[in-house]
Amino acid sequence: MNKKLLALILGAGLVLAACGGGDDNADKDTDKSTDSGTTTETASVDAEKIVSAKCISCHGQNLEGQGNFPALNNVGSRLSEDEILNVIENGRGAMPGGIISGDDAQAVAEWLAAKK
Ligand code: HEC
Repeated sequence: MNKKLLALILGAGLVLAACGGGDDNADKDTDKSTDSGTTTETASVDAEKIVSAKCISCHGQNLEGQGNFPALNNVGSRLSEDEILNVIENGRGAMPGGIISGDDAQAVAEWLAAKK
C-alpha cells in the first residue's frame, strides 16, 4: 500500500521532470490549455533534460559512466546516431530498451552522437 503510493509519487515526479507538461496525448481538443507562457513543445525536445531524467541513474551524473555502465559523454566517437538510436529503442545487454521513444529517442540520439 505504502509502496504503491510511493511509486505513484515517484512516477509523477519523473513525468514532471521529464517534460514541463504537454505531450501528444495532453488535452486533445484545446480550447485553452491551462499552462501559460512558453509553449514550444511539439517540435522542440530538450534532449539534455530527458537524459538527466532518465539516463543518469545508470550512466552517471555527468554521463561519465560508472561500474558496468558505459560513459555516454563520448559515445559519439564510438557509435553513430543510428546505432545510438538502436540501443535506446531496442536495448542492448543490460541496457533496457524503450525507456524513451519517438521524437524523444531521436533527439537524444542526435544529442549523444555529437558527444565525442
Ligand atoms: C538500467 C540502467 C540503464 C539506464 C536507465 C540507461 N542505460 Fe544505457 N546502458 C546501460 C548498460 C548496462 C549499457 C551497456 C550495454 C552493453 O553492455 O551492451 C548501456 C549502454 C548504452 C549505450 C551504448 C554505449 C556504448 O558505448 O556502446 C547508449 C548509447 C545508451 N546506453 C544510452 C542510454 C540512454 C540515452 C539512456 C536514457 C534514455 C540510457 N542509456 C539509460 C544501462 C542503462
